[in-house]
Amino acid sequence: MTPVQDCCHILAGAQLRIPQPHDPFRVHTKGPMPAIGWRNAPDDPDELARYRWWIGHHLAFCVWRLLSERLASIANDQQTQPPSVAASIAMYDVYSVLLLYAGSCSPEVYLRTIRPAMVAADPAFSGRWARDYEAIPVLLRTIRRTRPAELVAGLLAAARTNQVVHMAMGKRLVHDGPSLLRQSDRGADQRVTDRERNLFDEFFLVKRMHVSRAAFVAQLRALTSLVASDVAQRPLHGSATTWDLPAVHAGLIGKLQRTANTVLRDFLHLSLERPCG
Ligand code: HEM
Repeated sequence: MTPVQDCCHILAGAQLRIPQPHDPFRVHTKGPMPAIGWRNAPDDPDELARYRWWIGHHLAFCVWRLLSERLASIANDQQTQPPSVAASIAMYDVYSVLLLYAGSCSPEVYLRTIRPAMVAADPAFSGRWARDYEAIPVLLRTIRRTRPAELVAGLLAAARTNQVVHMAMGKRLVHDGPSLLRQSDRGADQRVTDRERNLFDEFFLVKRMHVSRAAFVAQLRALTSLVASDVAQRPLHGSATTWDLPAVHAGLIGKLQRTANTVLRDFLHLSLERPCG
């Protein structure tokens, strides 16, 4: 067991099994489906914080994989496909909800549980090391540069909202203090290394392997159902302490918190579709 599974029993057996971002899904669907090792959310605040941090990240990794597919189809197709734009907007919204979900604990609980676990893995531990996310900013830049503005305006707005949520959540949890990355010796502008990507995978209990799309979707659906039922029992808008945000940002975040369950349910349908083209 890894250190986190040792101290957080609710994560024992929890492992996300997905391919490397550039590896296609296995074509043959034969063979055993990966075991689904996630359990229902616990009540204890520290355990719940860890659970949401890990489960929220697992689902975010799945969302990024599908979002990258959609963005690639928008960036590469001759004609911009409105269904892919709509799907990408929905996926950005799920990712925004997952930021709020993963970081929904109080700053005190975050500083007591999550942050020390990341520091123990590496003092400069950072989301920049998430290999499943790396293609997304690049594809988004291509889309912004090459696609008709009126067709992708909603998509660019959803991406901006996502940045607002990420920044606000980071600020809330670290009380305006420096992030781990900034307070470490590692320069923020250095290239990410494979060692860091692997360490990030290991920390988050991700096993890289060839799986079929069906096996991937089975994990994604199990995770989405767990997050949705956790959020139905303990709504996100009850969990945030002070945010201290401009009204417009507070409005965006409040809406995502209130509609989290609908956003997640819609995503369940979307996960069965594939980009055309
Ligand atoms: C579910 C996904 C994510 C969550 C819940 C999340 C959460 C957070 C939190 C809480 C912090 C503050 C860390 C601390 O110092 O204690 C942070 C900082 C940061 N995150 Fe994320 N993050 C996520 C994904 C990402 C991704 C994909 C990237 C990659 C671009 C990223 C880049 C960063 C950076 C660069 C910082 C430091 C910001 C600064 O120094 O101003 N994060 N994030």
